Amino acid sequence: MMHVAFFLLIVFTAGGSSSEKVCSYQEVVDYLNLTTNNNLYKLTRPVLNYKHPTVVQLDIILYAILAVIEKTQTFIPFVWATMKWNHERISWDPDQFCGINSISVPREMLWIPDLFIYEMVQKDDSPLNPYMYVLHDGTVTLEEDLRVVSTCRMDIYKFPFDTQKCNISIGSAIHCVDELRILPFSNASRATQFSRELIQSQGEWEFLHVSISSNNFTFGMKQWEQLIYTFTMKRRPLLHVINFLLPILFFLSLDIASFFIADHRGEKLGFKVTVLLAISVLLLILNDILPSMSNKTPLIATYCIVIFALMLLSLLETILVTYLMEKDSASYEKLRLRNNLEVKQEKVQVNNCNPEEKRDNCCSCICKVSDSEKQHEPLPMAEGVNNSIQYQESHVLLLILEELKELQHTLNLHLSCRHQVGKSGQWAARINKAFFIFYLITVSLFLSLIFIEWNN
Ligand SMILES: *[C@@H]1O[C@H](CO)[C@@H](O)[C@H](O)[C@H]1NC(C)=O
Ligand SMILES: *[C@@H]1O[C@H](CO)[C@@H](O)[C@H](O)[C@H]1NC(C)=O
Ligand SMILES: *[C@@H]1O[C@H](CO)[C@@H](O)[C@H](O)[C@H]1NC(C)=O
Ligand SMILES: *[C@@H]1O[C@H](CO)[C@@H](O)[C@H](O)[C@H]1NC(C)=O
Repeated sequence: MMHVAFFLLIVFTAGGSSSEKVCSYQEVVDYLNLTTNNNLYKLTRPVLNYKHPTVVQLDIILYAILAVIEKTQTFIPFVWATMKWNHERISWDPDQFCGINSISVPREMLWIPDLFIYEMVQKDDSPLNPYMYVLHDGTVTLEEDLRVVSTCRMDIYKFPFDTQKCNISIGSAIHCVDELRILPFSNASRATQFSRELIQSQGEWEFLHVSISSNNFTFGMKQWEQLIYTFTMKRRPLLHVINFLLPILFFLSLDIASFFIADHRGEKLGFKVTVLLAISVLLLILNDILPSMSNKTPLIATYCIVIFALMLLSLLETILVTYLMEKDSASYEKLRLRNNLEVKQEKVQVNNCNPEEKRDNCCSCICKVSDSEKQHEPLPMAEGVNNSIQYQESHVLLLILEELKELQHTLNLHLSCRHQVGKSGQWAARINKAFFIFYLITVSLFLSLIFIEWNN
């Protein structure tokens, strides 16, 4: 009885220990002879027959659009890249190792494809992912997250309403197409969907889609395979519209409104010059944004320069009109001076009147005065006073008359100043009117043309 129990105990413990076999990754590593000084796995391309190409499957997902700089033609995305290839020297049976079918190893231990991005102009200095995953059948998976500073030829013709396409081309640095093939892991629609779900940045650029194409890059006798990811994104134009397009329109409408400012004394001129200066300040901002490209003038540059030119034209027109007005008032000034001179002469005559010959001489003086006054529509009141002077010889009255006469004179001058417009003044008014109509038509035509061009 005791013997049987002891036997059973032994069987049980033995059975228990065999079913609870403990495995560690180290056993797999030992089995594979993976050590840092074993060059077997990292020295050369991992194929048993050198004629076999290594196939690298690649997946690139856009995580964020960090910057799109037109000035330097730079596109800076943040991407997640996944690479998968087969290491033909690695394989183990998971059943031998308690079902372990994958291990992670440091990236220095195994061969890694020498992929690089053609457009990348600046090395990424973010730390590399230290580990990679190895499956029991030899499939190695490497994950990288990269901040790619890439060049991208951007078309800024439609500047704030533009859509840009930027390429990220990935290829091997030295392995030709017969040694290393690069294939996309997920198709374009899946990559687009992944990126849309993942994308973090809500900045100026809206990610639309990604398309994937393959190309054989030929140089000399050799061919390298490239996988090209084309990211399409659209600018959100609101900031530029608020910051730039609308203010220019506002200044333009101010310029149009200034046609209703009176032409006298150069106020209109000053106003227009101020508006023009404001526009040129805005043009300086544009200088910071746009690159200097010679092939096609961007619409926004056309927009600015045509509006600037129109305003310049209206300023020149105002200068012309002001000049004509000045000429008009100058000729009128001459007239006034002459009138003043006459008045002074008359005054002298009146003052020269002697008390003895007051009756005849002074009367003749007054008559003379009233004669000359008839040119300027004499006041009826003056005539009344004139009549009453017949029997009142007061010196005070004479003085009053004189004052009244002077008043009438200045009144006449002022009235004619307002109503009497010379020939050049009439021309000025005509030019002003014609130019205003021309200006309105040109501005509305130009604006509608340019907005149509922007829209398609
Ligand atoms: C590991 O090395 C041992 C001897 O050093 C050898 O017998 C074994 O086959 C090697 N294993 C592999 C997977 O190469
Ligand atoms: C991007 O790649 C596509 C497909 O190969 C090509 O047609 C296009 O010209 C490339 N664009 C740029 C800006 O290089
Ligand atoms: C892309 O791949 C998904 C699954 O991986 C598939 O359902 C879809 O039909 C594929 N689309 C195209 C255009 O091949
Ligand atoms: C590139 O070359 C490989 C091998 O010759 C070929 O299979 C592949 O179709 C080529 N790709 C293109 C885009 O021509």
